[in-house]
Amino acid sequence: MNRKILHGSALILCLSAASIFSIGQSPVSLSVDADRPLHPIQPTMWGLFFEDINFAADGGLYAELVKNRSFEFPNPREGWMIEGSSLFHTPVLFVNRSEEESSNPRVARIRVDSTVCMMNSGFRGMGIHGGDPYRISLLASVLTGDVKIEVKLQAEDGAEIGNAGLHPTGSSWQKYEAVFTAGSTDPKANLKLCFEGNGTIEVDMISLFPVHTWMERPNGLRADLVQLLADLEPGFLRFPGGCIVEGRDLSKRYRWKNTIGNIEDRKILINRWNDENSRATPDYFQSFGLGFYEFFLLSEDLGAEPVPILNCGMACQFNTAELAAMEDLGPYLQDALDLIEFANGPTDSRWGSVRAEMGHPEPFHMKYLGIGNEQWGPQYFERYALFEELLNKEHPEIELISSTGPFASGPGFEYNAGQLKKFNPTLVDEHYYNTPDWFFENVKRYDTYDRDSYKIFAGEYAAANVRMGSPENRNVWITALAEAAYMTGLERNSDVVTMASYAPLLAHTEAWQWTPDLIWFDNLSAYGTPNYYVQKLNSTHRGTHLLGIHREGEDVTGADGLYASSVLDETSGEIIVKLVSKNEQRVPVRVSIETERELSPTATATVLSSSDLSAMNSIVEPKNIVPVNHFLDVKGKNLELQLDPYSLTIITINPSSRP
Ligand code: AHR
Repeated sequence: MNRKILHGSALILCLSAASIFSIGQSPVSLSVDADRPLHPIQPTMWGLFFEDINFAADGGLYAELVKNRSFEFPNPREGWMIEGSSLFHTPVLFVNRSEEESSNPRVARIRVDSTVCMMNSGFRGMGIHGGDPYRISLLASVLTGDVKIEVKLQAEDGAEIGNAGLHPTGSSWQKYEAVFTAGSTDPKANLKLCFEGNGTIEVDMISLFPVHTWMERPNGLRADLVQLLADLEPGFLRFPGGCIVEGRDLSKRYRWKNTIGNIEDRKILINRWNDENSRATPDYFQSFGLGFYEFFLLSEDLGAEPVPILNCGMACQFNTAELAAMEDLGPYLQDALDLIEFANGPTDSRWGSVRAEMGHPEPFHMKYLGIGNEQWGPQYFERYALFEELLNKEHPEIELISSTGPFASGPGFEYNAGQLKKFNPTLVDEHYYNTPDWFFENVKRYDTYDRDSYKIFAGEYAAANVRMGSPENRNVWITALAEAAYMTGLERNSDVVTMASYAPLLAHTEAWQWTPDLIWFDNLSAYGTPNYYVQKLNSTHRGTHLLGIHREGEDVTGADGLYASSVLDETSGEIIVKLVSKNEQRVPVRVSIETERELSPTATATVLSSSDLSAMNSIVEPKNIVPVNHFLDVKGKNLELQLDPYSLTIITINPSSRP
């Protein structure tokens, strides 16, 4: 049972069944058909959608603390402050070697005759944890003389909280690094490099990483954020987006081949969300330190199926809608073939050998591939057809994911849904960002879907409390409750819906472009929203088979504000009942388990609730709404409980005997 106690601080309360009903209130009777599983639930059912939006990668999950480490932003000075520099005194020059180094053309050339210092302010400052080790590294080439580098970590108030020394020698480019311990914690520290001595030196790739990244990997990921993802036990990881797959125009599309290999050779790209009108973020670029190799590795770490999405020759249809001509699709198709080889190919294949050189000779066992992100219209299907034909022929083992565009209904959706009947994708990606009411009202959406056609990947969804796209949206409890209700509908239809993921996943509290988001973080800490806990409760109680749960013979889909689904975990034998109440009052419920098995006399109820529909979690109050565990008495095959106002309750019942 410990596995199911979802929060360290969760209260364990004992409820006596005899005392829970108010006089005169008759309980709602639900029955679970526990001995007749309806169909398997795919291990992929609940997963993650990662996109580099809201500083999710650079400035977020990717643990690099230096912004513009290789001076490749359009303004090489972005993020850097050079002490004592003026128009007529420029000890630091940015030299462009583009002819020899097309992916990393710029370096900083520093002429030292007295001390020259340059400071990097990080991504809205650098989050430093006192007592933790940090690794400073840089590439350097000494052109003349003898130059030493004093490295200082400074708190926001200027106090020194760490230091190290580097002494580059020789004119050939070499990497220099040192590890030092930070003396104290600071959310907005900065890094100062002072060049001393006499001579001229060139530097590049100035980097500061915590040593304690996820799995202590160099060039790694922020451990606290990955832990939050791991706690979700995701069945899949869809990456790298989202609109960044498409780009505002095709020249800005995501190209996976530019994101692998040595990090200094990964060519940076403006982030598509950089100039998003509602919250422009002019310093938002993709360094691709977190690239396709790292996404595959992360999927493996999380035990999640990797689900890469590729550009299909279409730029974002909300922006330029630029198209690659049909006769120019060759490189896009080749990217798909090469990606499969990179992920799964033998180590003596061209791309399999790149994977092996990067440190992963074993294949990543990629099974799914998305063709385009959120595309729609005839241009999409012309292009999709080429991908499907080629990939079905060359790689019939790869399950293809197609798209229905950005909306859950309407002409664009209908057009795509109609076209899709002519094709053969395994999964079709549906997206919906809508009001909480929409989620409550659409809980039966998939009840009538064709059982003999493609499966559904609910690849992006979130309830928005203001209007869709408004920066005023917040992860308030009503949005999470609506998603919880809706997820009972996804689960009841898990023969059709085999993958689902909330979107977007991550957001920096100072650098976001889109709300709501599942996990929020600042430079030092992170918290799960109520929506996060809804995802987590479903994911960690996913079961292996669907069970029927009924009220007077009918599915529980919103009458009297109640929603329900139920699953069996065949491995543990657990019967899991998920109940959502959108009632303002407590609701008494009697659950009868129809089974030949004996049941253990105690069950667990994990409750996520708040009587305040506008309540939220935050950096200062991260546990305002978190799951709380209770014990319930089981009398024979029945249990009784009161559902909290506005609540999601997950009941786990252990059989004491096998059938
Ligand atoms: O999740 C944010 C955006 O919403 C995604 O990039 C896109 O696919 C959708 O429009």
